[in-house]
Amino acid sequence: MKKNSAAKLQQLHAFAVSVRKNSYSPYSKYRVGAALSTDSGAMFYGCNVENASYGGTICAERAAIFSAVSAEGKMKIRDIVVVTAEKKPWPPCGFCRQVIAEFSDTQTQIHLGDEKKIHKTYSLSELLPEAFGPQNLK
Ligand code: THU
Repeated sequence: MKKNSAAKLQQLHAFAVSVRKNSYSPYSKYRVGAALSTDSGAMFYGCNVENASYGGTICAERAAIFSAVSAEGKMKIRDIVVVTAEKKPWPPCGFCRQVIAEFSDTQTQIHLGDEKKIHKTYSLSELLPEAFGPQNLK
């Protein structure tokens, strides 16, 4: 899988910043935006959408991933950029790490940032070592 250029990463960051504005988060007040590129090169995005029944909430990362799967079916995430208001990177929750794992390979990169820039980049194995994945169900 070809590595994304710095320009494409910047574009993903801009998408994540923009979609974060649509975050529906009246309960936590935490706005999160995520944008990803797949192995096809296409880009998808999502924001967190909360619910009065709190368990109905979906995180920005999963919203973006489900949008990508809805458009492309089986795909691999090349880069995913997650943006919050925090300077200190806001790591994806456990559910999102697991869902990222389902659609990742060793080259997938997870970037965390604020509105200005990306502050930190991780591989999936750094965030979810020894992940349970499709390979376990063969
Ligand atoms: N949230 C995300 O969008 N992504 C994460 O990885 C962590 C949490 C959202 C869910 C909820 O709307 C708010 O942040 C507070 O948990």
